[in-house]
Amino acid sequence: MRIKALGYIIIEATTPAAWQGFMEDTVGMMLAPSMDNSNNLYFKMDEYSWRFRVEQSDKDCLSYAGWELVDKTAFDQALAELDTAGTSYERLSAEACEEKGIREGIGLKDPGGNYLELFYQMKLDYQRLVSNVGVPNFLTGYHGDMGLGHWVLPTAAFDECYAFYKDVLGFGDVDYMHFHFNPDPQDPGQGLHFMHVDNPRHHSLAIYQDPNPPESNCVHLMVEVDDMDEVGYFIDRCKQNDVPIVSTLGRHTNDLMISVYVATPGGFALEFGCDGVQVDWEDYKPTTSSVPSLWGHEWNHG
Ligand SMILES: [Fe+2]
Repeated sequence: MRIKALGYIIIEATTPAAWQGFMEDTVGMMLAPSMDNSNNLYFKMDEYSWRFRVEQSDKDCLSYAGWELVDKTAFDQALAELDTAGTSYERLSAEACEEKGIREGIGLKDPGGNYLELFYQMKLDYQRLVSNVGVPNFLTGYHGDMGLGHWVLPTAAFDECYAFYKDVLGFGDVDYMHFHFNPDPQDPGQGLHFMHVDNPRHHSLAIYQDPNPPESNCVHLMVEVDDMDEVGYFIDRCKQNDVPIVSTLGRHTNDLMISVYVATPGGFALEFGCDGVQVDWEDYKPTTSSVPSLWGHEWNHG
């Protein structure tokens, strides 16, 4: 199975208006002009009609992700592979596909019980990103083919989820880290698998070993901009809008992203960065890294 990109993210929110303020006035995305925002709020960052949908809920969390296949041939091949693997799925109704602006889609669950969707061809509306705060564009590749960014998924079913995303969904290994936050030598620590799909973005998913995953269902989401100035303007906007910065500016070891992390209204962090490496997977050797950052990324600094 060749999944192309992280296509969309569904967020549940107790206060969708807080997300609207955060996305428009701090992140710099726009309310999607070609979508019906009367029930859910759709946010747009590139040619895709939308990338994030915020739904009214009684909890705050990242609900699920939509993973993109390139076309019907790849989609049908994926269904055949799921059948072979004995992984059950349900086709999305025509109404659900119409609502999301996608051609076809299915819903399934990973071994950790996380619902996800596979789809192909979300409509491109080609409407310009008109950012309230002047963000010229987000880095998502040609016609969005690098996806919206990356997601770090916390799960207690660490090995099972890793095997599922690798062996069933066809994600590729990029890097592995292992953390020891507890001084107890008996503590097994926590692993982190960085995984790529079929585009040059270093990782589109990272699976984080967490015996007690948070209700937010997310460690962080990452979106990327073109240059350092846009990251700097973002930091200024966070200060102006009283958005807590949870990690200072730093550069990561494995994807070379220069980024900051801030608190979203959803109880998880958003990484906002630039300069992430783009990889040719033909000749790539997966790595094991011992530290996450070359410099910076001081957590809980304030
Ligand atoms: Fe990240």
